[in-house]
Amino acid sequence: MSTILRRLPPSEATGLRTGARHSLAELYRPADLVVLGLGVMIGAGIFSIAGRQAATTAGPGVILSFMIAGIACLLACLCYAELSSTMPTSGSAYTFTYVIFGEVWAWIIGWALILELQLAAAVVARAWGEIAVGAVANFGVRVPASGIVQDLLVFVILVLLTGIVALGARIGLRALWIMVSAKLLAIGAVIVVGVMHIDVANYGEFYVPPKTLEAAPATILEIFYGESQAFGWFGIFAAASAIAFAYIGFDIVATSAEETVNARKAVPKGMIRSLVIATVIYIAVALVMVGLAPYTRISEDAPLASAFRAVGVDWMVHVIDVGAVLGLTTVILVLIVGQTRVLFSMARDGLIPRGLATVSRRYHTPSRVTLVIGLVAIVLAEFVPVLTMQELVVLGTLFAFAFVAAGVIVMRRRMPHLERGFRVPLSPLLPALSLLATLWLMVNLRVLTWAWFVLWMAFGLLVYLVYGRRHSLLARPNPPPRPVHGRHRR
Ligand code: ALA
Repeated sequence: MSTILRRLPPSEATGLRTGARHSLAELYRPADLVVLGLGVMIGAGIFSIAGRQAATTAGPGVILSFMIAGIACLLACLCYAELSSTMPTSGSAYTFTYVIFGEVWAWIIGWALILELQLAAAVVARAWGEIAVGAVANFGVRVPASGIVQDLLVFVILVLLTGIVALGARIGLRALWIMVSAKLLAIGAVIVVGVMHIDVANYGEFYVPPKTLEAAPATILEIFYGESQAFGWFGIFAAASAIAFAYIGFDIVATSAEETVNARKAVPKGMIRSLVIATVIYIAVALVMVGLAPYTRISEDAPLASAFRAVGVDWMVHVIDVGAVLGLTTVILVLIVGQTRVLFSMARDGLIPRGLATVSRRYHTPSRVTLVIGLVAIVLAEFVPVLTMQELVVLGTLFAFAFVAAGVIVMRRRMPHLERGFRVPLSPLLPALSLLATLWLMVNLRVLTWAWFVLWMAFGLLVYLVYGRRHSLLARPNPPPRPVHGRHRR
């Protein structure tokens, strides 16, 4: 087999109970995984991107966009559930790909996951900064217009959350339970109070006829169609792809598998349950938002708040602010945790420097890699216009979804004997549908996003050829043990 296609032996990824490869403490129980999933999913997607898409791209049809993205993500989630129930490791899609398709593909997926998690942490931190400043201003406090306060707040939140992750998963988990409960209360209020003020006339123009734009084709699909459009079906699909951002996170639950008690059963359940709950919440919030005010009156900057202001319920603005600030905080927290677990796995396999796989003896966390991630997130959030890069996060994520769907089909054929805690029903039909739905969302993303993605992946391939290919543990005749030290149970 060519070196770059060498495959990780399945025993390395399936031997959760052997302790041969795993060095993180068991911590999560099934309910924790649902909290983890809701913690990372419900954030910028529903609090800001949804409204922006309604105002500019899909109109009230944004509800359909949520349903389309939700179905695609549910299919992907089933595929993730099967693979993580077979290979419960913190590398998630990266490790699945290593076992099924070989090293170079695993590296490519790992590189796409870095894009997803690292960039998303920066994007959401920046959005958090905007919302936090807006929340303070809504209480009547004057904030200097220079942006310095926002920069400072973004810096503080990233330092704080990186510190929490580095100090131990248990502290993070407690904080997560409290904040997720509070954000669910706020969302509950949005739905209950919102329903009482819905005017069904606002759903009247559910399908907004397409508007041809002067601009050059924006999405890959529009290139084939020949012109650029907003609203209409193109708009609904383009919005579905952008809104997939809101669903990002159920896949991150898979990275907690090594730290989960009875992972083979618990991870699939946690992932599916959290995604179903998030989908119901999203559709309910979208229904309320476009039911409160005509989509033309929804502001791009503070969509939910503007919808409530339109019906004169101004006090809800503060509830939304608190929910959004807490909501986005938990998103960043879990994104950092997920990123540490993926990089930790890549380092453990030798594809990035092995020192990054060190688990702190004191805190039982991969603290070194956590600090690197926190630092990179700060640099990105402070110095790069990350808010324009949300779609790049989506593309990185969808790329991994595609490999996971294909992976289920290939693995059923090649390794039918492996123990599976969960099986995708109707395979290979559902995994094939998942692959198609994912590709469909991908072609509805903008050409510019694709260009950045290709650049990022080409750079990644270069890094692999220069470093990973040579330092991979599979390249060594007598590889050192993969875990840096033994498994702890607390
Ligand atoms: N799903 C997460 C959010 O919407 C990334 O913020």
